[in-house]
Amino acid sequence: MESYDDVRLILAKLVRKYRARRPEFAERINQALRGANTRSLGSSVLRRATAPSAAAKEDVPIDADSRMSLVRIFDDRRGLPPPLLPPVLMKRVEALIRERRERDRLLAHGVTPTRSAILVGPPGVGKTLSARWIAAQIGKPLWVLDLTTVMSSLLGKTGNNLRMVFDHAREREAVLLLDEVDGIAKRRSDEADVGELKRLVTAILQEVDSWPDTGLLLAATNHPELVDPALWRRFDAVLTFDASDPKLIAAAVERFLGADAKAFGASVALIAAALHGASLSEVERVVATMRRSVLLDGVAPKQMALELAEQRTSQLGKADRLALAVEIARSDSLSHNQIKELTGVSRDTIRKHAGPSPIKGRGGRKDS
Ligand SMILES: Nc1ncnc2c1ncn2[C@@H]1O[C@H](COP(=O)(O)OP(=O)(O)O)[C@@H](O)[C@H]1O
Ligand SMILES: [Mg+2]
Repeated sequence: MESYDDVRLILAKLVRKYRARRPEFAERINQALRGANTRSLGSSVLRRATAPSAAAKEDVPIDADSRMSLVRIFDDRRGLPPPLLPPVLMKRVEALIRERRERDRLLAHGVTPTRSAILVGPPGVGKTLSARWIAAQIGKPLWVLDLTTVMSSLLGKTGNNLRMVFDHAREREAVLLLDEVDGIAKRRSDEADVGELKRLVTAILQEVDSWPDTGLLLAATNHPELVDPALWRRFDAVLTFDASDPKLIAAAVERFLGADAKAFGASVALIAAALHGASLSEVERVVATMRRSVLLDGVAPKQMALELAEQRTSQLGKADRLALAVEIARSDSLSHNQIKELTGVSRDTIRKHAGPSPIKGRGGRKDS
């Protein structure tokens, strides 16, 4: 995950390096960078919503020098399935939406709705997706200013580009997401001078301060410790996204299997157990790979699930490995001895948790 971020930073650097001399090359990298961010394996609705429409394109704030767009726009108002979130977090997200919808009622009592929120958590848990969903739910497009990719366009322009983005978003009453806000801090180690960065941070603080009650301002970060405390303090709410809980993983496996969920049937629980601790974007990737193999190579879903279990078992902690062993036993595809070989969990322990095996061991030795 970390390395993914690193690659993006390197690509962003290349864009800056080649912008003047080879603008077309730079723009192609830039597009790839953006494409990597917006890649989506979801429904066709998702994919359509991801591609900015021609009309939206003309309307986007553009860096005058590079002619590159500073924001990505998501318009998911035609529909986006809700993110899979733990119930407590989902409640808070829904409260944000409700406050927006019933703003007039709140204001009538002199209460303002939550104006801004920062979404915190590891990569791939649905921060950006949740921002998209929130915007869609309150009937607005989402404008994403990705700080890790547009830093160079923001620096050294005395805050003009930044102001342009905020002004445009305000005018269009869009929800604005400052994605990967830690990107500012990351640049400290880069070539930009400290004074310039300070000015940028100050400009961001000013924009955040002057953001109107009528709009919703969101930010997201994988590295809360890198976010400037002065910026951090300005957000009304902090929403914490944790690595997924097991129930969510099972739901995600089912969702991402889509039409193939039936074919995978009982293997869903086994796949979910194998993916314990993975982010939902990892779950999405793994499931997509399995669907391709089942479709093109004709591998049986159960076989795919077992192969996944074998790959993942070394990454699992003791409790998760036991849970996985039990799921394999329940799937009736391996003997307890084979499960022991695969997961390292003893046959006695498996028997204790899953009951006796219906499958005869094939000449395996007894464990002590
Ligand atoms: N909570 C979630 N619910 C549904 N899908 C998710 C969730 N988290 C991640 N995904 C899948 O992974 C993709 C990347 O997630 P994203 O929102 O970009 O993560 P983050 O912004 O936290 O790094 C999403 O577009 C979605 O397909
Ligand atoms: Mg994100």
